[in-house]
Amino acid sequence: MEHKRLISDGDKVQVYEIEGNAVKVFKDPHEPKSVVLYEALTHTRVEETGYARIPSLEEIKKVDGKWAVAYKFIKGKTLAELMKENPEKVDEYLSMMVDLQIEINSYRSAKVSRLKDYIKRSIEGLDVIDDVKKYELLTHLESMPKHVKLCHGDFTPDNIIISEDGAYVVDWLKAKQGNASADIAKTYLRFCLSHRTEYAEKYLKLYCAKTGTAVKYVQDWLPLVAAAQLKFRRPEERELLLTWIDIVDYN
Ligand SMILES: Nc1ncnc2c1ncn2[C@@H]1O[C@H](COP(=O)(O)OP(=O)(O)OP(=O)(O)O)[C@@H](O)[C@H]1O
Ligand SMILES: [Mg+2]
Repeated sequence: MEHKRLISDGDKVQVYEIEGNAVKVFKDPHEPKSVVLYEALTHTRVEETGYARIPSLEEIKKVDGKWAVAYKFIKGKTLAELMKENPEKVDEYLSMMVDLQIEINSYRSAKVSRLKDYIKRSIEGLDVIDDVKKYELLTHLESMPKHVKLCHGDFTPDNIIISEDGAYVVDWLKAKQGNASADIAKTYLRFCLSHRTEYAEKYLKLYCAKTGTAVKYVQDWLPLVAAAQLKFRRPEERELLLTWIDIVDYN
């Protein structure tokens, strides 16, 4: 029998190291095949952009009766682990993270799903806000510039692995083509949701300074990415997300 070592145990997936691969196993034996194949397809499309800091997809298979996607195993620690171990280096790590995200956003893929469509569908499907609020948010979304930059969609320190030959980025399930500022707003939101508001603020400032972007331009995306995040119905996120939705600035 092949030897497998558990690397990560999350809400929906477990990741094992099996014979040189990181195998992402979907916990639910009834996980729709379309979800598994969508992750694999999105990852492949990102690989095809030429972006190199991504592990190659090796195989789609079943492990103990559950669907799994095997990626080349990247040896190293996640940036989240390093931030915990070396808090004095957090500024350096955040700066490295911003550089990585700017690089990702410089790639294009016409085949990856569109971020604005995703946010629109997510808002339309919400039942925690009324139709007036939905209309306000959708109008706001409509007014936002339409870009086609590669966005990771969940660019957090957990999804960055620092190996001997540099950083690699994993977990491309939510990758989209869209506005880079929306991708930054999502990272900002994820820091806030994990009670790292001071990292969120630093990240936003660093990004804006490095790219010459107005802070307000990124902030304008916050209610929209917050609304899209509400669809996951996580009770612990609800209050903060509803607060973000209420700060829509219509000017
Ligand atoms: N190619 C890889 N090489 C080494 N480790 C990996 C690789 N891919 C993923 N991991 C590890 O597994 C963890 C979880 O993987 P991933 O981010 O893809 O799943 P996830 O969707 O965040 O899981 P969940 O949804 O359950 O939170 C990563 O944070 C990383 O530590
Ligand atoms: Mg992840």
